[in-house]
Amino acid sequence: MRLAKYLAHAGAASRRAAEDLVRAGRVTLDGEVVRDPARDVDEGSGVALDGVALAGPEARVVYAVNKPEGVVSTASDPGGRPTVLGLVAGESRRLYPVGRLDADTTGLLLLTNDGELAHRLTHPSFEVPRTYRARVARPPVGEAALRALRRGVELEDGPTAPAEARRLAPDVLELTIHEGRKRQVRRMCDAVGHPVRSLARVRFGPLELGDLAPGAHRRLTGAEVERLRRATASRA
Ligand code: URA
Repeated sequence: MRLAKYLAHAGAASRRAAEDLVRAGRVTLDGEVVRDPARDVDEGSGVALDGVALAGPEARVVYAVNKPEGVVSTASDPGGRPTVLGLVAGESRRLYPVGRLDADTTGLLLLTNDGELAHRLTHPSFEVPRTYRARVARPPVGEAALRALRRGVELEDGPTAPAEARRLAPDVLELTIHEGRKRQVRRMCDAVGHPVRSLARVRFGPLELGDLAPGAHRRLTGAEVERLRRATASRA
């Protein structure tokens, strides 16, 4: 494995910051300074940072959280709002949110220290489906609106791909989309004349939000992580 990746997996720094650490001469292999972040290493290479031996790549973890309203899904917020990382108290590994939910959207968000998995789950080419429940204005939602959402609607950054759309109540829509554009569901609902009043993500790929309480988290089982990996395997 490349040295910078090894350092990142060991939790020492992000991939980019790890490259800087190596170039700065702070990393040694069996006591010898290396400055090439691409150097091939493994657990027998004696990798140390600032003279302190690093444990091997840490175990991969994936958490599901039920993001409450007002919590941001970036790792930090200049405005000082609480972040989703704060929902997983007691976890010392560096976690990354898998994609984003708007601050005013609630529901299922994944956090992981597996950068590769996070990348694949959010990369448009894998088209991992996400399902949202939207309470909307101007009920009832009619057949024409549903048909338009299914077919794809014109947004300012281009038409949306076909979506699955069904009406759960006169003012509640369930939408499954295979893209992750900014405020996409809100803009799609706007486009068909039903502005969103509240929005929750209830499914991400093979995973359901289920009965996870707002603000709560749980660690995914190995079988669940495997299902997530398989959701990105077809186009690998
Ligand atoms: N679509 C939105 O409009 N907002 C989200 O947070 C997620 C999807």
